[in-house]
Amino acid sequence: MAAELIDGKKLAAETRAQIAAAVAALKAEKGVTPGLAVILVGDNPASVSYVTAKEKACVAAGMNSREIRLGADVAESDLLAEIARLNADPAIHGILVQLPLPKGFDEKKVIDAIAPEKDVDGFTPVNVGKMLIGEECFLPCTPHGIIKLIEVTGMKLAGKHAVVIGRSNIVGKPVAALLSRKSVNATVTLCHTGTPDVGAFTRQADVVVVAAGRPNTLTGDMLKPGAVVIDVGVNRVPDATNPKGYRLCGDADFASCSIVASAITPVPGGVGPMTITMLLWNTLEAARRAAK
Ligand code: GUN
Repeated sequence: MAAELIDGKKLAAETRAQIAAAVAALKAEKGVTPGLAVILVGDNPASVSYVTAKEKACVAAGMNSREIRLGADVAESDLLAEIARLNADPAIHGILVQLPLPKGFDEKKVIDAIAPEKDVDGFTPVNVGKMLIGEECFLPCTPHGIIKLIEVTGMKLAGKHAVVIGRSNIVGKPVAALLSRKSVNATVTLCHTGTPDVGAFTRQADVVVVAAGRPNTLTGDMLKPGAVVIDVGVNRVPDATNPKGYRLCGDADFASCSIVASAITPVPGGVGPMTITMLLWNTLEAARRAAK
C-alpha cells in the first residue's frame, strides 16, 4: 500500500480537545453552556447510530445535549412546532434535524423552519447563500471537515485540481463551493450521475472527493498517481462473517485506490469523526455569539 491513511479520528480528537477547552472557558467567563438539540424522526438504523454519536460527542465536549426522538408517524405540523419551541429556547444554541426524514415529510420546509442563527448544520437557505457569497456563517459540517482533512496531508490546495463526485446538497455542492473559494483557491470539477466518463476527470485530479453513496464509484485506475482521496461514502454491505451481518465500506475501492493515491481516508475513521467535530465547533460558535 503506497497511500498514507488520513487519520480522521486523530484529527477529530485533537480538535475536540480544543473545543472542550473553549467550552470550559465560555462557562467560566460567561456562565453559558452550549446546548445542542438533536431531532430524530423515525428509527432508520444508520440515523440512530449517527445521532447517538453526535449526542455522545456533545456531552464529552462539556456541552448540553437534548434528544428529541419522534415516531415516523408524527405530524409534520408537530415537528415544525417542536422546532419553533427550540428556536425560542435560550438554553438551545444549535438545532439539528437528522436527514433523511422518513417518506412524506417536506424536508425543505422542515429545514427552513430552523432559525439560521441556530442552524449548526449550515443547511438553511440563509446559511447556504452566505457560504456561497463568502459571508460569515455556519459552514456545513462534512464539507468543512473535508477541507481540514485535506490540509493535514500537507497538500496546498491553491492552484490544484479537485474533482468532486456527487452533487448532494449536504456534501457535493457545498464542498465544491468551499474548495473554489478564494481562500482555498482550488480549480474544481463537479462530476455527477450525468457525467459520462468520470475517470476522464479524476485522472487529472490532485484531490478526489467521492460522495456518491455507491461502493466502488472510484477505483485505482481512475486516479492520477499521488492523488489525495477523500471518501465520504458510508455504505452497509452484507457480510456473513461479521456478527452484525454487514460491514461498512466507502464509495472508493480502498484496495485499488490505496496503491495509487498518496493519501486516503479510511471508512470508518476518516470523514465521519470530522463531521461530528465541525458540528461541535459550530455549536460552540453559536453559543459564543448568543453570549455576546
Ligand atoms: N444526514 C447525513 N449527514 C447529515 C448531516 O451532516 N446532518 C444532518 N442533519 N443529517 C445528515
